[in-house]
Amino acid sequence: ELARILDEIEHVHDLRQLDAVRHQWVGRKGWLTEQMKALSQLPPEERRQRGQMLNQWRAAIVEKLETKEAWLNEQAERERLVEETLDMSWPGRVPEVGLLHPMTRVRRRIEDVLMRMGFSLAYGPQVETEWYNFEALNILPDHPARDMQDSFFVDIPHLVLRTHTSPVQIRSMQAHQGRLPVKIAAPGFTYRRDDDATHVPMFQQVEGLLIDRGIGLADLKGTLNLLAGALFGESIGTRFRSSYFPFTEPSVEMDVTCAVCGGEGCRVCKETGWVEILGAGVVHPQVLKNGGYDPAHVSGFAFGLGIERVTMRIFGVDDLRLLYQNDLRYLAQFVSGG
Ligand code: PHE
Repeated sequence: ELARILDEIEHVHDLRQLDAVRHQWVGRKGWLTEQMKALSQLPPEERRQRGQMLNQWRAAIVEKLETKEAWLNEQAERERLVEETLDMSWPGRVPEVGLLHPMTRVRRRIEDVLMRMGFSLAYGPQVETEWYNFEALNILPDHPARDMQDSFFVDIPHLVLRTHTSPVQIRSMQAHQGRLPVKIAAPGFTYRRDDDATHVPMFQQVEGLLIDRGIGLADLKGTLNLLAGALFGESIGTRFRSSYFPFTEPSVEMDVTCAVCGGEGCRVCKETGWVEILGAGVVHPQVLKNGGYDPAHVSGFAFGLGIERVTMRIFGVDDLRLLYQNDLRYLAQFVSGG
C-alpha cells in the first residue's frame, strides 16, 4: 500500500497535482486521517501496532511530498532560466536608417540657394481664396485656368486648392506694406487636375519674387541662370522662351539642357534635349497695385519653379508618379547623389 502511494507521488507532474495528492492521502479529510479514526474499532494490541505503522507511513508520505515539491520547484526554476537565457553571440539587429524623400532634399537645396541670394522664405495657405489665387494675379473670371478642368474647388464658396504658389506674391507684398525690397521665396504644395507621367494632381513649386526700384528682365535672367548653375552644376545650359502669364509682362519659360554629362558619360532625358522647369516674368503693373505697390516707382520679377521637374532632372527620374508612390525600394536609390 505505502509503495503504491509513494509511487503515485513520484509520478506527479506539477505543483497543482501534488496538492491534490497531498489532500487525498494526508489531508484533514484524507485517507490517513480516516485510517486513524478507524483505529478505535480495533482491539488494543492491534490498534497499537497499526497506529505505529500509520505514523511511519505518514512520515514517509510527508517526506516524499516535500522532496517532490522541492524537485518540482527546482525544475520550474531551471525551465525559467533556460527560457531567459541570452545568447550574447547572436548578431545584433541592424536598424533601418531613414532618409529624406528626394523631393524634400531638392526643395531644401533650392531654398538654400535662394536664401544665399538673399531671399527670405514665405508661406501661404494651400486652401486659398479665389481672389488671391486668381483675381489679384490678373486672372479674370473667364480665364481658362479657372475652368473646372484645372482647379480643385472646395465646398466652401470662393475657396480653391491653390493652383500655384503665386498667391504668396500678393500676400507677401501686403505683409511688407510698401517697404522695399520684397524678396521672398515661397515653397509649397499646389494642386491641379492633372495626372500623367510628368504631371500629378498634387505637386510642389517654389515661388520667387523680387520687388525693388529698377528691377527688370535682365535681373530675372541673371538670377535664374545663377540658380540653375547652383542646382545643376555650372555646365548646365539654359534658354528662355517667351510665354504668357496674366500676372507678368513680359513672360518667359526657362528650359535647362537635358544631356547630363558627368562621370558616367552623357545621358539625354528628352528628345529635344531641353526640359522646362519654370515660368517667370516681369511683375504686371496691376499685380503690383493689387499688392499695394505703385508701378510708377517700383518694379519686380517673379518666377515659379516646379520642384518635381528639378528633381526629375537632377536624379534622372522619367516618371514623376514614381516619386509619390513611396515605394522604399524605389526611393532608397536616391540615398546618395543628386
Ligand atoms: N504661376 C505660374 C505657374 O504655375 C508660374 C509663374 C510664376 C509664372 C511667377 C510667372 C511668374 O505656371
